[in-house]
Amino acid sequence: MESRVSELTGKTILVTGAAKRIGRAIALHLHAQGARVLIHYGGSEAEARATAAECGGAPLYRANLESVAEIQAMFQEIEAREGGLDGLVNNAARFTQIDVLKITEAQWDFIHSVNLKAVFFCAQQAALVMRRSGRGGRIVNISSMGAFLAWPEHVHYGAAKAGVVQLTRALAKALAPEISVNSVAPGVIPFEEKDDPRIQAMAAGTPAKRPGTGEEIAEAVAFFLRASTFLTGQTLQVDGGLGLR
Ligand SMILES: NC(=O)c1ccc[n+]([C@@H]2O[C@H](COP(=O)([O-])OP(=O)(O)OC[C@H]3O[C@@H](n4cnc5c(N)ncnc54)[C@H](OP(=O)(O)O)[C@@H]3O)[C@@H](O)[C@H]2O)c1
Repeated sequence: MESRVSELTGKTILVTGAAKRIGRAIALHLHAQGARVLIHYGGSEAEARATAAECGGAPLYRANLESVAEIQAMFQEIEAREGGLDGLVNNAARFTQIDVLKITEAQWDFIHSVNLKAVFFCAQQAALVMRRSGRGGRIVNISSMGAFLAWPEHVHYGAAKAGVVQLTRALAKALAPEISVNSVAPGVIPFEEKDDPRIQAMAAGTPAKRPGTGEEIAEAVAFFLRASTFLTGQTLQVDGGLGLR
């Protein structure tokens, strides 16, 4: 990608965790904008194949993001098959609710290995491929309003997501000027859980008075992917005003 504002037509963009939910919405949106989308998945092979079919027969890449070796192998395969990479959307993550006084080391690592460590190593590997191809690039990390609000039953998740926001800032400086790094922080974006009364109450309490959609997150991601490299290190809160306290 060049430094100026550009269209996504023909750009090769990897979306992690693209089989379902927000990742699927991002992949479909980028495909609709003309991008060549690469679909990463972990365990949801059938859903990933369905998303790939909807994205015009997009290539599939499987990796357990807990493993840095699997992340490295995935990017090696992408470089060999695609000849380069223009964009990375670090979307894959885990979410758990645990009493802060009961959380174990394994439960802490379960979240941090994917939500923070994998975000870093995917960005590192993507940046190496982007540098080698000489095309520059765009990295968009999906963080969360949990990075900014204090959620007592998700302390471990909020800490990892706050890490993603700071990682975005430091990586933006480290990878400039060829590669921009930005983040989208979603608010309440429910899918199967949309009828859960707690989710409905949280969404109803926002200025928007409703939950958000995957498409609304995807539009923000596409904005950063299209933007010039002058826009970097930023986190855009797409939350219906949830964070306005
Ligand atoms: N939904 C919300 O309300 C909300 C709010 C704030 C922030 N976010 C953030 O937005 C992003 C997407 O949210 P979501 O609710 O759509 O996510 P999700 O359904 O919970 O997870 C997305 C995908 O992450 C992949 N993943 C998780 N662990 C993995 C691993 N070890 N290896 C490979 N893939 C792994 C899974 O892929 P497979 O199924 O293929 O294994 C999963 O489908 C996340 O970063 C999330 O934290 C969401």
